[in-house]
Amino acid sequence: MERSLSMELVRVTEAAALASARWMGRGVKDEADDAATTAMRTVFDTIPMQGTVVIGEGEMDEAPMLYIGEKLGSGEGPGVDVAVDPLEGTEIVAQGTWNALAVIAIADKGTLLHAPDMYMDKIAVGPEAVGKIDINAPVIDNLRAVAKAKNKEVEDLVVTVLDRERHAQLIQDIRDAGARIKLIPNGDVAAAINTAFEDTGVDILLGSGGAPEGVIAAAALKCLGGEMQGKLVPSNDEEVLRCKKMGITDLDQVFYMNDFCSGDDAIFAATGVTDGELLKGVQFKGSKATTQTVVMRAKSGTVRFIDGAHSLQKKPNLVIK
Ligand code: FBP
Repeated sequence: MERSLSMELVRVTEAAALASARWMGRGVKDEADDAATTAMRTVFDTIPMQGTVVIGEGEMDEAPMLYIGEKLGSGEGPGVDVAVDPLEGTEIVAQGTWNALAVIAIADKGTLLHAPDMYMDKIAVGPEAVGKIDINAPVIDNLRAVAKAKNKEVEDLVVTVLDRERHAQLIQDIRDAGARIKLIPNGDVAAAINTAFEDTGVDILLGSGGAPEGVIAAAALKCLGGEMQGKLVPSNDEEVLRCKKMGITDLDQVFYMNDFCSGDDAIFAATGVTDGELLKGVQFKGSKATTQTVVMRAKSGTVRFIDGAHSLQKKPNLVIK
């Protein structure tokens, strides 16, 4: 993949964040998501790549744009798999809370997992705890291993968990082990990425969230030298069938980093829509807007934070009023 694609991806996530951020706190999810998707789709056409969406807004018959299998890019340049979540955290934007992101990951063609849209059990950690986790092990064992790897006590750890009824036992197990918990209403992509940044104050992500989000987070962790493991959680016969159709016959299969992203390269970009631990959200003042984006590449290990200042006068279609 061309190194210069990194900057092109920043333009894509910036556009999606700018378009959806006006919907912050308005109590509606679909409008914010549509705005992000349309903006992202528009900018993609200008990028010199031959992309195919492998993680997107849904199947062709359910999503008008950025559907799975859709071709993206100008038609020239490298062939790449594209995983997008134009607005990761639709409810977050609707409520105006923390950590909504516009995200994209690309990798060499044929190297990203085509994860079905269902829940996935996840465990994610930053670089210090790589090789120490096991999604099949009891919670206490993982916490002890991560604490040891990070030279901490279990009581010092902060575990991020989506605040869901289905996590009642998990939360109890973490409490029994003595670790601290950060319950989040939404946004487990940001939660996974945050484990790789000391300043965010979180050490580990546990629990189930969307499988497509798992692939996106794994691509980010690949760039950051972290680790994610996942297990699909089909909740009915139809989902079991969907797994089988995708060639996943062993429903207990653990997806490791090389299953999520089998190549040696990936590029990941995320722009903050609302404020989060890692990225500031979009701010508006008159005809100006500011964005903050993280962009990183697996092959080089480079991580860049990019502050964008945008003129809405010169690019009025960046924001839907
Ligand atoms: P959306 O942007 O699609 O609303 O996803 C937000 C999210 O919180 C993800 O971060 C997470 O993986 C998933 O939803 C969890 O799903 P659920 O809300 O059904 O528990």
